[in-house]
Amino acid sequence: MKDLYIAFAPLQGYTDAVYRRAHWECAGGVNEYYTPFVRIEKGELRRKDLRDTDSAANEGVPTVPQVIARDGDEFARLCDALQEQGWGRIDLNMGCPFPMQVRAGRGSGLLQRIDCVEEILNEMRRRPEVVFSVKMRLGQESEEEGLRVMPIINEMPLVHVTLHPRLGRQQYKGIADKGAFLRFADVCRHPMVYNGDVVECERLQVECERLKGVMIGRGLLARPWMITDKDPHEVIMNMHSIVYHHAMEHLCGDCQILSRLHAFWEYIDIPHKQKKAIMKATTLQRYREAVASYNSTAGQP
Ligand SMILES: Cc1cc2nc3c(=O)[nH]c(=O)nc-3n(C[C@H](O)[C@H](O)[C@H](O)COP(=O)(O)O)c2cc1C
Repeated sequence: MKDLYIAFAPLQGYTDAVYRRAHWECAGGVNEYYTPFVRIEKGELRRKDLRDTDSAANEGVPTVPQVIARDGDEFARLCDALQEQGWGRIDLNMGCPFPMQVRAGRGSGLLQRIDCVEEILNEMRRRPEVVFSVKMRLGQESEEEGLRVMPIINEMPLVHVTLHPRLGRQQYKGIADKGAFLRFADVCRHPMVYNGDVVECERLQVECERLKGVMIGRGLLARPWMITDKDPHEVIMNMHSIVYHHAMEHLCGDCQILSRLHAFWEYIDIPHKQKKAIMKATTLQRYREAVASYNSTAGQP
């Protein structure tokens, strides 16, 4: 397990630059952090996304920016913007199952559009200075879709392929299909990274010779200390301090601040009663009291 590559999965709304930094500084144990996807909306790159990939916000944290694109043109614009920010490493999302993205032909919707995947391959070839990777699902409607694009993905200059073995139409329902992961590993010429429902350190191993590593999302949101031997409570409170102070400094109004702070706690694995008090707080005053109460009782039987 020692030399397995471990990545923190991108989770829109949760793993922003501040969260990634907090995890890196207070927990660690992860090789790389992927940013939530940078996207084009109404013809423009979202400013909010570019603030999250800004090099100053990520300084010192091993970060991989991710893009979502529906064709070669979009992909080129996104790469241009990230390269301008100084990035030489870019991940392409071919797995997002959100209906709005899929309908626009992005995420797992891209797996159904071989011509667009080919355009993206050509764009990658025009940028030999960038190290690319792909994060994908088995397909949108069927596994055949992913297998059909695999020859093109094999042509791409990639450092690895991360595979979440579910279909787009399943979203997060059903069981991640490890058998399907192995079938894809058989036909993929790139190193493979497994992603899906890894919640404990002991379950990191997937029986696959070509496995480079594991990408973990919700498991790490729930237990940020999972890959370390650090004290869980200390990790939580130290991370919270960074996220809290950043929210107080940069966000406006109780509502916005509380919404960011609630996202921090939403998945965290702490006793139900204490979590409920934190999540129910509608003012900052109540929120601070609930966190202080959790802090003073944590670790007690
Ligand atoms: C709320 C939420 C937001 C997500 N945002 C992204 C994203 O921006 N980019 C991406 O590639 N995957 C995204 N994902 C998928 C995760 O990266 C990951 O593939 C998925 O949660 C399965 O891994 P896990 O079982 O370890 O959580 C998101 C998932 C969730 C639940």
